[in-house]
Amino acid sequence: THVVLESCIRCKYTDCVDVCPVDCFREGPNFLTIDPDECIDCAVCIPECPVNAILPEEDVPADQVAFIKLNADLAKNWPSITKRKSPLPDADDWKDRKDKLSELIR
Ligand code: F3S
Repeated sequence: THVVLESCIRCKYTDCVDVCPVDCFREGPNFLTIDPDECIDCAVCIPECPVNAILPEEDVPADQVAFIKLNADLAKNWPSITKRKSPLPDADDWKDRKDKLSELIR
């Protein structure tokens, strides 16, 4: 599967969802996840994200491996998103911040 990582938090640019052929993105208040049961590893979403938040599971950096299970768990309860929408209003202020996990709204 592919995984949405920390840089998406408080940004949610949503360019990724427009290109997904299997509609595997799920939307929370300030983060998106990929449903690992739906993702076919096509990788077309990777270059779409302006903050490089998406990687294949095997390439997730060691300090973000928790996001693999986090994507799977949150995807179970969040609704599908299939069309791009406006980013969060202060996305540009948050896009270069690190250590945003504490900002995640579940
Ligand atoms: Fe998030 Fe990037 Fe998609 S910021 S919503 S993974 S385009």
